[in-house]
Amino acid sequence: MLAGKNITVGVTGGIAVFKVAQLVSSLTATGAAVRVMMTKSAREFVTPLTFQTLSGRQVYTDLFERPAGGSVQHIDLASGSDLIILAPATANIIGKIAGGIADDLISTVVMAASCPVIICPAMNVNMYNNRIVQRNLAILGDQGYHFVEPGLGRLACGTEGRGRLAELELIMDKIEAIFANEGDLQGRSVMVTAGPTVEPVDPVRYLTNRSSGKMGYAVADAAARRGARVVLISGPVELRPPAGVEVVPVQTAAEMHAAVLDNFSAVDVVIMSAAVADYRPRNTAAQKIKKHGETMTIELEKNPDILAELGRIKKQQLLIGFAAETEDLERNAQKKVAAKNLEMLVANDVTLPGAGFGTDTNIAKLIFPDGRIVSLPKMDKLALAHRILDEVLVLLK
Ligand code: CTP
Repeated sequence: MLAGKNITVGVTGGIAVFKVAQLVSSLTATGAAVRVMMTKSAREFVTPLTFQTLSGRQVYTDLFERPAGGSVQHIDLASGSDLIILAPATANIIGKIAGGIADDLISTVVMAASCPVIICPAMNVNMYNNRIVQRNLAILGDQGYHFVEPGLGRLACGTEGRGRLAELELIMDKIEAIFANEGDLQGRSVMVTAGPTVEPVDPVRYLTNRSSGKMGYAVADAAARRGARVVLISGPVELRPPAGVEVVPVQTAAEMHAAVLDNFSAVDVVIMSAAVADYRPRNTAAQKIKKHGETMTIELEKNPDILAELGRIKKQQLLIGFAAETEDLERNAQKKVAAKNLEMLVANDVTLPGAGFGTDTNIAKLIFPDGRIVSLPKMDKLALAHRILDEVLVLLK
């Protein structure tokens, strides 16, 4: 899948540089054309010769170096890349990109590039948790940069925590997910729902849930990359819409219900990853509710079960549901497949580390109406999105 792809690896200064040597070696072995850029700090850890030997190509270190022929190196590197990976990505390079600074080769190439960029942070746990670093990561996430989160464990500085460069397998998963199956959903229409719904109590309060929308946005992104027409019905989330996707923003379950029904007849597949509120306040107060007494009761009434309704009225459409469980996952999930008349359910135990709300990874089981269960390992949400679409493709045939 990676053969012939132009992959540029930006190496910044951290001890995890030595692991990136293995990454470059593995990427080169796939047949990809791998170019390596190094910052001055990265060269304190490893010399360019290491990467030159592993990639079989010149290593780029200097913004002002003029290649033969007089072209501009950072523009050539940016426009000639199908993918850029920053690994290890220090707090410094993350801050520079988030702040719009381009003062060395890597930051300038990233600024000039229009291809996907994967950032693999690696740093001391306190640096990683620093609020400015986290703010910068959030800014980049909103702008469509991809991440492979650092892992937990012992850090080179002797402390324990999150900050180790992610396992190479997760980085390779992410890279493959970006290039996966380009075009195999051409001519198909997919509706994806994502995020939470919010159910107003009064003008300043609402009921909602912890859904970040990341899984649904990854599915929409993957489906669009594979050539499908994608409509994404989204509750309120802090994510940038994937390129080439029609987004219909909604707030409440009732609005999501209406938007889904509006689009239903025109699609081949519905992937319902939204965390729809099961109940809403029976009455929404027109004015802010004042406090009275020691307790307060809000009466709730049931929202429509959108997916169950689709299960009753579907014609050609495939229906894929999601279920977040905290106990008895397989039995609960199988009941939902039958009750909602689904072709597949993606169930995950949200109590496991690395699964569920807000994380960039998921651990899921795919449950089918014939009782078949496929247990998937922990994977990046974009990789899981592609795995789900692989099954969709089989079901469509
Ligand atoms: N769903 C829906 N409309 C609702 C509630 C859920 O379409 N009002 C969809 C979700 O998008 C998801 C699936 O149904 O695809 C989840 O099934 P559900 O039975 O709602 O799961 P839970 O809410 O987890 O159910 P329970 O609380 O009973 O476990």
